[in-house]
Amino acid sequence: MRLSSITALLVAGLTAMAADCNRADYFKPGAYNLYMPFRGNSINCQLAQGNNSDAVKALQTQLNLCYGSKLDVDGDFGGKTKTALKAAQKAAGADDDGIYGPETRSRIKFGLYFNGNPNDKVCKKLSDW
Ligand SMILES: *[C@@H]1O[C@H](CO)[C@@H](O)[C@H](O)[C@H]1NC(C)=O
Repeated sequence: MRLSSITALLVAGLTAMAADCNRADYFKPGAYNLYMPFRGNSINCQLAQGNNSDAVKALQTQLNLCYGSKLDVDGDFGGKTKTALKAAQKAAGADDDGIYGPETRSRIKFGLYFNGNPNDKVCKKLSDW
C-alpha cells in the first residue's frame, strides 16, 4: 500500500473518531439515567466551540449540575461553554483544551438529581456510576 493511501486511511480514521455528538439521551450504566451527549446510540463523540445541538444542551446541563457553571442551556457551544468546560477539565485533571471528547468524558463527573430533588444531587465519574 502506498504511503498516501495509508495517510488517507489514518486521516479518515481520525475524522471518524472525532465525529460530533448530535443528540442527547440517557445513559444507563447500571440503574441510573445520566443525561449525556450522544451520536447515534454511542456516547463516543466530540463537541467543540461552534457546535449547536441537543448534545451541547446535555453537556451544559452536566456542567451546571456537577461543576457549578451557570450556563444557559441553549445548545449553543460558545465562549462561555468553552470556558466552563475548560474549568471542569482542569478540576478533573484532563487536558483543558475546551473540547469534549473521550478523554474528557472519562475524567469529568456526570450527575443526576435523585427523585428530581435539587438538594439530592450526585456527581461521579462515569466509571464510578
Ligand atoms: C462542531 O465543531 C467543530 C469544531 O469547531 C466543527 O469542525 C464541526 O463542523 C462542528 N459540527 C457541527 C455539526 O456544527
